[in-house]
Amino acid sequence: MDKIVIEGGRPLEGTVKISGAKNAILPVLAATLMTRGRNIIEGVPKVRDVATMIQLLKDLGAEVESYRNEKIVLDTSSANNPEAPYDLVSTMRASCLVLGPLLAKLGRARVSLPGGCAIGARPIDLHIKGLEAMGAKIWLEQGYIHGTADGLKGIQFYFDTVSVTGTANLMMAASLAEGETILENVAKEPEVVFLADILNQAGAKIEGQGTDMIIIQGVSSLKPIECRIFPDRIEAGTYMIAAAITQGEVLIENCIPQHVESIILKLQEAQVDVEVESSSIRVRGRSPLLAVNARTHPYPGFPTDIQAQFMALMTLARGQSIIMETVFENRFMHVAELKRMGANITLDGHTAVISGVQSLSSAPLMATDLRASASLVLAALAAKGQSVISRVYHIDRGYVNMEKKLSCLGARIQRVK
Ligand code: EPZ
Repeated sequence: MDKIVIEGGRPLEGTVKISGAKNAILPVLAATLMTRGRNIIEGVPKVRDVATMIQLLKDLGAEVESYRNEKIVLDTSSANNPEAPYDLVSTMRASCLVLGPLLAKLGRARVSLPGGCAIGARPIDLHIKGLEAMGAKIWLEQGYIHGTADGLKGIQFYFDTVSVTGTANLMMAASLAEGETILENVAKEPEVVFLADILNQAGAKIEGQGTDMIIIQGVSSLKPIECRIFPDRIEAGTYMIAAAITQGEVLIENCIPQHVESIILKLQEAQVDVEVESSSIRVRGRSPLLAVNARTHPYPGFPTDIQAQFMALMTLARGQSIIMETVFENRFMHVAELKRMGANITLDGHTAVISGVQSLSSAPLMATDLRASASLVLAALAAKGQSVISRVYHIDRGYVNMEKKLSCLGARIQRVK
């Protein structure tokens, strides 16, 4: 298994270009199952989760006509197999996004129940409750979710918890259901808004995306999807924090500042210098870095996917910061590793109290999940000396060429087998 070796203690300088948003393309790829024809998607980020989803679509009968230079042409004319294999789905929870499309298009689905993961149980009870309300019959058998539907019907549905992929799944299913569907307490993430807009371009009738209520009028069919994926706001936030934690100066290019507004405000509160342009952000780490509190929240709140990276930054801030994780029940897997580097963090349930220290010391580190891995990379970049991070396949799930992009910024980082 690959490891990443980092010689930390050097400020990052230069420009980094943000790649396409992983959490935007995954539901769009699932949505291609509701079309029949050549779907053309540009701005595709080369990350493992995307490769997994593409393989899953191929197993379901889609054909990759071409895939190069971040552009994929996916022919779904023969995507008629409703069965997603366990070995693929178990590695990526987002595979559950094919449930809605398969039931809507084929009237059948057999998808392995996604395993939990490091950050929590991550049930999909709301996905299932909504699909059943639409008329699907869904049961669990030998670790697989089986579903049948003889045509889906529009419903009124309230999400007890805001769910990003739950909103995406029900919105896709409702697009081909009969009649009107009203979804309430929905996710407002840019990735959900983008999916709704792309479905509308393919002939769906969706409105209200970006608000608490989405209304969908079902249609009989959708045209093939053509779109370009927008830049990844979590990747952008990660590199903004990389600049801050190394006291460097980085220009983040090809990003959408509005998508990272809550991160910009938090960094400015901590006295980090952030200059916003129309599609780029310049971040200068300054001293002293001030300790600030943060509480994760669905969009447009402070993103849970940036919590671990921000905590790494706060370990070096002056004073005490309190970080609350309100979205997932166990998203503090990075804390133990940061403490091994000398960070001063105490946990109390969903709350972490961080008292800043002068410096972190390098150490051998273990990645546990995608964003915790990013947090350890950031801490290692700030710590003097050599850190070795193992299980870096977690990073490859959601970051395009992270070590290449960081070494272009002057980091001493390399991947070793
Ligand atoms: C999406 O996951 C993202 N993944 C996650 O990003 C992100 O952390 C999360 O949204 C929150 O923003 C993709 O978009 C592929 P949820 P998702 O359903 O949809 C509970 C990353 O690092 N819940 O919004 O799976 C759930 O347990 C990944 O890129 C239920 O209880 O998250 C959690 O506590 C990690 N029942 C909360 O809701 C359900 O049926 C939010 O989960 C669904 C969710």
